[in-house]
Amino acid sequence: MVSGWNRMSVIPSLTLFFNGLCRLNLEVAARPPGRHFIDSDSPDGERSWPVPNSHLMHVSDGAPAPAPQFPADATLAWLGLSGRVALVTGAASGIGRSVAEILATAGATVVACDRDRPGVEAAVRALSGERHVAESVDVADLSAIEELIARTARRFGRLDILMNVAAVLKRMPYEAVDEIEWRRLMSINLRSQYWLCRAAGEHMKPRGWGRIVNVSSGAGFVAQDTGATAYAITKAGVLTLTKSFARALGPFGICVNTLVPGATETPMLTAGWSESDLAAARARAPLGRLGHPMEIARAGVFLASELSSYISGHALVASGGALMR
Ligand SMILES: NC(=O)c1ccc[n+]([C@@H]2O[C@H](COP(=O)([O-])OP(=O)(O)OC[C@H]3O[C@@H](n4cnc5c(N)ncnc54)[C@H](O)[C@@H]3O)[C@@H](O)[C@H]2O)c1
Repeated sequence: MVSGWNRMSVIPSLTLFFNGLCRLNLEVAARPPGRHFIDSDSPDGERSWPVPNSHLMHVSDGAPAPAPQFPADATLAWLGLSGRVALVTGAASGIGRSVAEILATAGATVVACDRDRPGVEAAVRALSGERHVAESVDVADLSAIEELIARTARRFGRLDILMNVAAVLKRMPYEAVDEIEWRRLMSINLRSQYWLCRAAGEHMKPRGWGRIVNVSSGAGFVAQDTGATAYAITKAGVLTLTKSFARALGPFGICVNTLVPGATETPMLTAGWSESDLAAARARAPLGRLGHPMEIARAGVFLASELSSYISGHALVASGGALMR
């Protein structure tokens, strides 16, 4: 009786086991080469799928990151950016250039500002659409940025979005920061954002809608780079600047937020950091790699869009998990 019960249950179990083994073998044989995620909790038994190469950059072989694909313009309608006029500083390079690219693709008119004239003109030529403008302006020059805002408002009759991206970083020991370097960092990285928020806010107020995104850095939260003390102070200032303007401009329907990039593969980072600094930055991020400027830009454009309508005074961190607060 007992042995009969055993035979009855063992035979179907063995059949199930061998069927499962065959299916698994077939799946393994069908897998493309490379690393795979394994989902052993799947209700259909174990499933696996390949890890895209872009997710392995710097983990496997240190190959440079391919640009992440961004959906075509038609799929960006839900950002609500079509017809908006956006001023982007630091638009000739890195994160600012990627921000300008997404805004233009989503239907906004971009006023791209940078002190690098050939760079910003090239960036504008590469944008989709016709109405964009390149402005060669030094954001440390207060009268020049006030004129820039006034010129933009005259030209387009509106200014809806301000993306304060421009900044400089020169790594040096804190003892080497003299008064000239101190003033340079404060005026480009911090004072410019204050003046631009104030001037842009005046044009947004009457329309009852606006988005301001100020770019800070993980260095504004955590002191881990002794070569960037004064830079870190400017970036900490940006966090408070954002909260102050969020309070002041909120009653006029203007959302003001901070974007906090982690280590991102741009000229600012690669020019100033050694290979061992870069390796340490990759290791700090649970995702195991540097960010692509387009990935940071996506987070920034979310804050500039209709989707973030109830978010103000916030600091959105895009750091691959390196900075968890
Ligand atoms: N790359 C990173 O790892 C990283 C990390 C944290 C924060 N950030 C921040 O992201 C922002 C963008 O940095 P990025 O990495 O793209 O740097 P980047 O050097 O590639 O681009 C900065 C741009 O700002 C412009 N610029 C500098 N000074 C200017 C001035 N006085 N007037 C007008 N334009 C000026 C430069 O010409 C350049 O085109 C900065 O605010 C930076 O502090 C970057």
